[in-house]
Amino acid sequence: MIQMKRLLLLGLLVLFAVFVVACGGDSGSESDNAGSDENESGSEEGGDAEEGEEVTIVYATGVDTTGKVEAQIEEFEELNPNITVDYREMPSDTGQQHDQYVTMFSSQSSEIDVFNGDSIWPAEFAQANYALELDRFIEADGYDLDAHFDGPIQAGNFDGKQWALPLFIDASFLYYRTDVTDTPPTTWDELIEQAGELQGEGGTEFGYITQANQYEGLVTNFVEIIASYGGAVLDENDEVVVDSPETVKGLEKLAEIVQSDFVPGNILNFQEIETENAWIAGDSVFARNWPYMQSSSSDEERSEVVDNVDIAPLPAGDEGSASALGGWMAMINRYTEHPEESWELVKYLAGEPGQKTGAIVGNHAPTIESLYDDPEVQEAAPLFQNPEFVEGLSQAVPRPVSPIYPEISDIIQIEVSLVLTGEQTAEQAAQNMQTKIEDAMAE
Ligand code: GLC
Repeated sequence: MIQMKRLLLLGLLVLFAVFVVACGGDSGSESDNAGSDENESGSEEGGDAEEGEEVTIVYATGVDTTGKVEAQIEEFEELNPNITVDYREMPSDTGQQHDQYVTMFSSQSSEIDVFNGDSIWPAEFAQANYALELDRFIEADGYDLDAHFDGPIQAGNFDGKQWALPLFIDASFLYYRTDVTDTPPTTWDELIEQAGELQGEGGTEFGYITQANQYEGLVTNFVEIIASYGGAVLDENDEVVVDSPETVKGLEKLAEIVQSDFVPGNILNFQEIETENAWIAGDSVFARNWPYMQSSSSDEERSEVVDNVDIAPLPAGDEGSASALGGWMAMINRYTEHPEESWELVKYLAGEPGQKTGAIVGNHAPTIESLYDDPEVQEAAPLFQNPEFVEGLSQAVPRPVSPIYPEISDIIQIEVSLVLTGEQTAEQAAQNMQTKIEDAMAE
């Protein structure tokens, strides 16, 4: 544990030192139709239940392997006896969830009321008029946005309005098996060396597992590995800068890892869920994943690796260690027939009680800073006791903030995948990404 803390501290300090703004800026300034007050069908008070009347709302979230959603719903229903929450399970792949919501909301469906949105969605969902602005609820209830870290609040803000409230923040880490090694790698080259050497020890089959499937998780792997070599997709002025020697170096390293013998032969099918399943089965020495995998690792019923897992910063490239920034937000469907009850659920989920349950049961990192001082939260996961972890979260590398983010993501997914399958070089991918993202942003 001490080792873990020292490494974490070290890595996170490096992370501060090399903080690379891969992208950023507020691309919201050009959009003018977001948040227009037309089409407010769902936000009228008239759709709401009379005081005390029983109402059922539908809450949609991606697959939850930790049990935290059920725990949150139970707690919420106890606190709000007149509201019943039906849980709608969505796919675990964020891109598939996204597409299903777009289909529902573009036909103005009211079949779900509240949903968890990936931190990359609010700009798009605001501009497309899929989400309900939360400002009037926030004002009416005096909801304290300042209790949260600023980054996730900003991620839910577009065109000066709040469309989403943060539920938890994600940054990626290197999980390692303490029964196999006490000294996890601190650079990508060390990872390659150790994963090759240690593969097979402690009953493992693989040295390293990560998410190399062609989907959003690949974008996070890409953004962080190029940042660790000094590369970025956009600069601070939203200029596309992805075609750089640093990107090429990072992408080549990712390809070297994915094409090595120490990863599963089907690594190109791996998303978070495959990573988690292989990890808790004890199949790998190292894994890259988000904080929630602490929860499954220590689940006595499912995990073969209870007490044999620790966490370190991701390995560094030439510029240091960098984690991609992720996380999820609560949003309300603009076409809900129950805006007031939906807000009650959002307020609970994003507030202290909901985030606390999320941290304890799901090991999700809260966005409410004071929760890191809560003894029960601290006890739930080793990372949460570490002040450098908390600081480090705010230094993670964001993905481009843009209403056309899905297009940018698709370009990255396709070009990076072609490198991983050996169909094009990293140089070609960097050039293609540069021109294609420039074209998409110019439209
Ligand atoms: C995690 C992150 C999310 C990211 C996704 C990629 O769920 O929180 O932001 O898009 O992983 O798979």
